[in-house]
Amino acid sequence: MEITSDIKYIGVNDHSIDLFEGIYKVPNGMSYNSYVILDEKIAVLDTVDGDFTEQWFEKLEYTLNGKKPDYLIVQHMEPDHSANVVHLLEKYPATTLIATSKAFDMMQNYFGSDFEAKKMIVKDGEELSLGKHNLKFISAPMVHWPEVMVTYDETDKVLFSADGFGKFGALDIKDCWVKEARRYYFGIVGKYGLQVNNLMKKLAGKEIRCICSLHGPVLKKNIDAYIQLYEKWASYDPEEEGILIAFSSVYGNTKKAVYLLRDMMKKRGYYNVQIYDLTRCDMSEAVAEAFRFNKLVLATTTYNGGLFPAMREFINNLTEREFQNRTIALIENGSWASVAGKMMKDSFEKSKNIIFLEPYVKITSVLDKKSESDLKELAKVLSEKRKS
Ligand SMILES: Cc1cc2nc3c(=O)[nH]c(=O)nc-3n(C[C@H](O)[C@H](O)[C@H](O)COP(=O)(O)O)c2cc1C
Ligand SMILES: [Fe+2]
Ligand SMILES: [Fe+2]
Repeated sequence: MEITSDIKYIGVNDHSIDLFEGIYKVPNGMSYNSYVILDEKIAVLDTVDGDFTEQWFEKLEYTLNGKKPDYLIVQHMEPDHSANVVHLLEKYPATTLIATSKAFDMMQNYFGSDFEAKKMIVKDGEELSLGKHNLKFISAPMVHWPEVMVTYDETDKVLFSADGFGKFGALDIKDCWVKEARRYYFGIVGKYGLQVNNLMKKLAGKEIRCICSLHGPVLKKNIDAYIQLYEKWASYDPEEEGILIAFSSVYGNTKKAVYLLRDMMKKRGYYNVQIYDLTRCDMSEAVAEAFRFNKLVLATTTYNGGLFPAMREFINNLTEREFQNRTIALIENGSWASVAGKMMKDSFEKSKNIIFLEPYVKITSVLDKKSESDLKELAKVLSEKRKS
């Protein structure tokens, strides 16, 4: 596959993977991308997962058409990208490895060698000419590991963005880019918004015609829109006015309340409401939706003097990803000593810029007049469109 006349795609699709990074469900599989720049000197950018060595070498050899690579640029040491570094060096021993100093430390740990005789350490901003193509290496620590760098091809204006701008899903399946990219972003790098923002600042002012990430499709159109979306995500700003209602329920009364709340919102003409049952949904999808909208309703039962486990896990997922700049409403349920509301609120103690909406709805076992009228009032307050 041709990206520009000199840049070729040699990545692979993985349809046998069930969980990415041991946790994220990937029903549409995953792609591990790898690229070759054909110039006076030839550079390969990253390898692929160890299950695809043969397939990758076939593509590489076909693309090289009898030539040999001069450089292997290792942008990220996570094994789904670096598994074939040693294999490539065995096949093409004259190849020089290019990576950050931290990446070479990791190579020592992974491969028992830091390839002293074959290595070229690059620092932030360093450049390399392949002949026609001038490459600039830009360090991107914690996007998503500390050794990461991205590579900008100044000649073709192509950004090789490592894990940035990646998504779940193999390339031979059509799906919604933003949905799977959002779930990927908040799942994997959501915690590192500051570092993603630092990278975006370094890229500002560079003309980018194409983004070649290590997962997901090569982005060729509307580049500014992708960049703006990443800046928004990295700044923890909501994407749109809307509500995620995340709930858990044992006997169905809390569930009944949240569906009633949604109906009350509809009556007020407010439709952008998603309801997620935290014990049954994909947790990473619920997390992504929470970051997408500006408002979040949490509804749960009290459970053994604490929070229902799925709600506890959900809130942990948000707070450890620096959830902020959002409005939250709380609904609690309990039959004898209700504590869920207070515990949910306290969980966000360290989170920045969270507004808690009144009224806070307390249900004792089942909805009654008071809790239903509180719910009605909450629907009214939630319907007021606001910017946070
Ligand atoms: C295992 C378990 C532990 C519970 N612990 C408490 C508790 O500590 N305090 C309390 O008020 N209710 C507790 N409850 C009761 C539920 O919170 C309560 O019945 C609630 O109304 C259930 O709402 P639901 O109909 O949405 O499931 C517990 C229920 C279960 C199943
Ligand atoms: Fe990664
Ligand atoms: Fe990756």
